[in-house]
Amino acid sequence: MTVSRRELLVGAAAVACASTMPARSSFAQAAPLVALPALSVLDARETLAFALDAVPGQTEFVAGVPSETLGFNQSYLGPVVLLPSTATVRAAVTNRTDRTVSVHWHGLLVPGEIDGGPHQPIAPGETWSPTLPIDQARATLWFHTHVHGATAEGIYAGLAGVLLLDDGLDARRGLPAALGVDDLVLVIQDKRLDASGRAVYEPTSDDRMHGFLGDTILVNGAITPVAAVPAGIVKLRLLNAANARNLDLFFEDGRAMHIVASDQGLLPTPVRVNRLRLAPGERSEVLVDFSNAGTATLLSRPHAEGTGAGGMGHDMAGMGGMAGMVANEERFTAPFVIATFRPEPDLPVAIRSVPATLGPDEPVTMVPSATRPFVLNDMGNLVPPVDLLDALRRANTSDHAGHAMSVVGSMPGMAMPAGNAAPSADPVFGINGAPFDMARINFGTTLGMTERWIVGGEMMGHPFHVHGTRFRVIRDKDGQPRPENQGWKDTVFVDGEVELLVEFRSPAPATAAFMFHCHVLEHEDRGMMGQFTVGA
Ligand code: C2O
Ligand code: CU
Ligand code: CU
Repeated sequence: MTVSRRELLVGAAAVACASTMPARSSFAQAAPLVALPALSVLDARETLAFALDAVPGQTEFVAGVPSETLGFNQSYLGPVVLLPSTATVRAAVTNRTDRTVSVHWHGLLVPGEIDGGPHQPIAPGETWSPTLPIDQARATLWFHTHVHGATAEGIYAGLAGVLLLDDGLDARRGLPAALGVDDLVLVIQDKRLDASGRAVYEPTSDDRMHGFLGDTILVNGAITPVAAVPAGIVKLRLLNAANARNLDLFFEDGRAMHIVASDQGLLPTPVRVNRLRLAPGERSEVLVDFSNAGTATLLSRPHAEGTGAGGMGHDMAGMGGMAGMVANEERFTAPFVIATFRPEPDLPVAIRSVPATLGPDEPVTMVPSATRPFVLNDMGNLVPPVDLLDALRRANTSDHAGHAMSVVGSMPGMAMPAGNAAPSADPVFGINGAPFDMARINFGTTLGMTERWIVGGEMMGHPFHVHGTRFRVIRDKDGQPRPENQGWKDTVFVDGEVELLVEFRSPAPATAAFMFHCHVLEHEDRGMMGQFTVGA
């Protein structure tokens, strides 16, 4: 295994030379040569309408080697959709692929019927036209396909894009606000490239257990690119859109990053850090000072999975089970390059210092009406998964003679997703002892209420995401929330246990319930998800 991996890396280096691409051999990159691709911008701030077409395409992650990909309005990923933070906006999503897709607005606080999750699939050839009543803080959000059992493959193929809610006030706040100049969007992902340089998604059983990690970092679809920046303060909007890889970002020269916004918007004051952890699904906006005119390299420490609450946790760098196979691979032991920034004297500098304050704090005012515990489970293979699922299906959808019966909270006519009919070697995950079931609502809560959620996880750390809500992290692994968990969030890395105050600001009926799930896509697809209603 090790030998073939070595051969693969040698082969990759040969490809890299032949194509004048930077060496993509594992994470030991040579100097990057590719310019950071500017994502196309779909500005709907005036029109209040936009269209996304999911289309198949081919993308050359390595020059001359096309990979089959999917994208919105383009061959890979989608545009940056610019919307007002308060407005009613009409969207039209057409599925021009041969598979069922959906478009979930991750972080947008809209009713369940237009949330775009597993309850709103779009069949090939169909158009879905939700009207989005947007009313929330300016924020960096994103959108992606969310078909149950097929989310990992769909996002890996490219069905994801960025949604920016703009209130037009960033310049007045003293923040860089020229999109593509001093306000840059960085969509960070990883891919596994085969010996020819083609991106493949063929998860092994270990990938299905721990999440699929690539061997090559992409930023906006380019391998470890270099971005030209003004020699001043630049805002980086960072999105971790990887299937499973945790990022632990830092600049090679140790320069500071000033966190100005987390998932759901601005912090009251910038938080200065030298290290920024970003789990799949999370966003962070940081200010970086490039005025010293030197090139700056953004790196990540290796993927660390964190620990489960049950003491079963491990870290990929030192884990036993895979040690013989991969422990010595650089991808698990050495920091790797994300992107390089090169100040250009020609680019206009708008902002020369980090603002002292950003706006009023918006603390939680409601007293929580309930406390709800969640455990993100590794259901293991102790019970053969197929039998377990069959048992759950029988218990939920039919009586002992096999006659269909109505179940409290079920949605008649909704078929069990094919993705759950997993081969018996497939791991099964769940939350609070049960894998996700489209036909079972896990609980109901009340619009306008706030609840205290205590979330723990087994086996490893998990990025926990909740639809249709925003929350504050009030307790973290080490007590006080770490810097990355300041402000309003919609996704949080559960390392050990976290305590959240969750606000329910949008309604969701049983036919279009909100999801809560692990954003390691291989976990989500295999059952680490649940759903809840928000009623009056
Ligand atoms: Cu970004 Cu339910 O997901
Ligand atoms: Cu979401
Ligand atoms: Cu998980």
